[in-house]
Amino acid sequence: MRSQLENKVIWITGALGLIGRASIIQFLEKGAIVIGTDIEDIQQFKEAPALQEKYGDRLMLFISDATVEEQVVASVKKIISKYGRIDGLFHNVYTQIWKTTTDITLEEWNKVMVGTLTSTFLVNKYVIPCMIEAGTGAIVNTSSILGKIPMRNTAVAYSAAKAAINHMTLIHAVEYAKYGLRANVIVPGDIKTEDYEVQDLNNLLGRSGRPEEVAELASFLLSDAASYITGSLYPIDGGFMR
Ligand SMILES: NC(=O)c1ccc[n+]([C@@H]2O[C@H](COP(=O)([O-])OP(=O)(O)OC[C@H]3O[C@@H](n4cnc5c(N)ncnc54)[C@H](O)[C@@H]3O)[C@@H](O)[C@H]2O)c1
Repeated sequence: MRSQLENKVIWITGALGLIGRASIIQFLEKGAIVIGTDIEDIQQFKEAPALQEKYGDRLMLFISDATVEEQVVASVKKIISKYGRIDGLFHNVYTQIWKTTTDITLEEWNKVMVGTLTSTFLVNKYVIPCMIEAGTGAIVNTSSILGKIPMRNTAVAYSAAKAAINHMTLIHAVEYAKYGLRANVIVPGDIKTEDYEVQDLNNLLGRSGRPEEVAELASFLLSDAASYITGSLYPIDGGFMR
């Protein structure tokens, strides 16, 4: 079985980001029907017009805030009414504030929790019933090495939220496996575009990862080639978490 996505309806959240944009392009190339949503104006995605021209109805991009329940519900309705199903979810939305426990305010903490953890909960919450109804589906939530490895002077709220995403996703894998749903987590290290000047990364490969490499892992986990894989965390970090 190949790691292809022929005619799979895949929703990518945080679609305007580094990983989101690379995933849109790669998933379309692999035969998927792709829905990309982001809080920012989708027109900022400069490749969008050419992709829309090439793929037509196989690509739908629209603005949707993953932290607002009504917008998540409306997005799911929009996808279902156009394509009839959601075969895969690749969730990338997050909020980052780089502060330690003694520095971060409660307001900032809550902002990060809502932007990172609650957004994941909400999108998963409304996608899962569609997958249960279909009797099949795959969820990939994006975490971070910060959610696995405690580090000094780091982003405490983001790290805690990512750790919670890891656990929540595994709960989804346990809870909904009987309905044919698979749920996994991607755990990226430092991901940048190729032309980024790499500093000391302390990983085995001595470079940042590329968004396309993360997209490749996500597409594998969303594809039928990963049909026996659920409830797992997948580091993609150049060997940082060895
Ligand atoms: N790039 C890295 O080095 C790295 C490392 C570890 C983990 N990650 C994780 O990978 C995922 C994607 O990262 P990225 O580098 O592509 O990020 P990015 O900042 O390039 O893109 C994130 C996108 O999410 C959108 N977004 C933010 N809040 C939103 C909301 N409420 N609703 C809808 N969209 C919203 C932003 O507008 C942005 O386009 C994130 O979960 C991030 O935590 C990235």
